[in-house]
Amino acid sequence: MLNIALPKGRLGNKVYEIFEKIGYECPEINEKSRKLIFENEKTGVRYFWVKPSDVAIYVEHGAADIGVAGKDILLEYTPDVYELLDLGIGKCRMAVAGKKDTRDKIGKTLTVATKFPNIARDYYSSIGRAIDIIELHGSIELAPILGMSDVIVDIVETGTTLRENNLEVKTEIVDISARFIANKSSFKFKTAEIEALTEKIAEYLKREGK
Ligand code: PRP
Repeated sequence: MLNIALPKGRLGNKVYEIFEKIGYECPEINEKSRKLIFENEKTGVRYFWVKPSDVAIYVEHGAADIGVAGKDILLEYTPDVYELLDLGIGKCRMAVAGKKDTRDKIGKTLTVATKFPNIARDYYSSIGRAIDIIELHGSIELAPILGMSDVIVDIVETGTTLRENNLEVKTEIVDISARFIANKSSFKFKTAEIEALTEKIAEYLKREGK
């Protein structure tokens, strides 16, 4: 049995669609319910719906053999897992953003609001800039508007949230997408199953031109 952690929400639904198409279906998952675990003995899979930012934790601890997590989460928490494939979905960018028409005062310590303190720290230390971090858990865009921070480090997908709040991207830090990850000891003990699944996903992505 392969234990698979899927991120709850739009990304998870897309990921499950891929798994279903390559022969790892579990029809019960499509029924409307509040259940969190779904099993199909025939295809040998057990799926869990978990909070997207928790997928890597389940995989790192071995509660799930494999899972799908955003590169943002992998960069922020650096879980001890194998990253096997870039799924090419859930694409967005990690960026520095701030109010339009404001200029950075070089030399001044920058106040950065973010959900990703490690990514922000790594980025600013790579360019030798001193920062203070304000850690928030959502609606990050409010911080510069209310004068609480100079900039934010956050995910930009369509750019709508920034645009509708009169903010703009100042610098792009890194491209983000969903990654297929595996627990290290599961990979050792279930090598054949995990490799077969990885290969099928890779073939599917190639076929679909992703
Ligand atoms: C994320 C991110 C941005 C927004 C970007 O927030 O933090 O706010 O999506 O998407 P866009 O460029 O397509 O507008 P999320 O929806 O996860 O909510 P949050 O404010 O709770 O973090």
